[in-house]
Amino acid sequence: MTISPSFNRTSAALTLGAIALAVALGLVVMVYSGLYSVAADEPHYLFVSNILDQLRDRSVSRHARDVVVPNLEDPAMIAEGAEHYSGMCTGCHLAPGVTDSEIRTGLYPQPPNLAIRGIGDPKAVFWTIKHGIKMSGMPAWGTSHEDEAIWNIVAFLRKMPSMSPEAYQALIGTSGENPESGTPDHDKPHDPSPDHDHSHAHQHDHGH
Ligand code: HEC
Repeated sequence: MTISPSFNRTSAALTLGAIALAVALGLVVMVYSGLYSVAADEPHYLFVSNILDQLRDRSVSRHARDVVVPNLEDPAMIAEGAEHYSGMCTGCHLAPGVTDSEIRTGLYPQPPNLAIRGIGDPKAVFWTIKHGIKMSGMPAWGTSHEDEAIWNIVAFLRKMPSMSPEAYQALIGTSGENPESGTPDHDKPHDPSPDHDHSHAHQHDHGH
């Protein structure tokens, strides 16, 4: 720095200032004009998605850095996690043998296929499942689940990419007796006769 003449420093500072001003003005126009599309069936401009990706990745790794990872190899945890995953996550993240869903095709950003891709740092994965991700459709499961249940899911996610559809089915089948499971309750008796009287009464109540 000491070798640069002050004249060059001043003009460099002015140029940078002008660029910063132009960028700020551009952002203000982009936001307030309403021209930018928030439609989920149109991708972001590349620079916007680059910024959002950086923002998400840096935010998650910073917020997750103090998370303490338990032992994730316990088969009971993995089975519990599989059951929760099958009830809560497959619509968006798929599973072995589950290759598509109606909700997933319309989501933007597209949820990663966790059955194929696998997961990275368990700290970041735990944090993401617990707190969710703004403006993406990824819910904060920590509002309805204990940390323990979330760790079970993390334990399962680490194994899922190496599972065959049969192994996955066997796993979610074996733990299906848990009343907390999201699987349909087959034991519940169906009402054999629809209540016609009630529906008539309903119509009379509202008949004009
Ligand atoms: C309604 C759809 C939806 C549901 C349901 C959902 N997610 Fe997500 N999830 C997303 C989306 C979308 C992203 C990507 C967010 C992004 O890229 O900004 C995501 C991201 C993630 C990530 C981060 C992946 C990565 O890139 O590292 C993990 C892990 C994850 N979800 C796990 C789960 C688990 C476990 C469940 C069930 C308990 C679940 N998700 C349920 C939509 C969903």
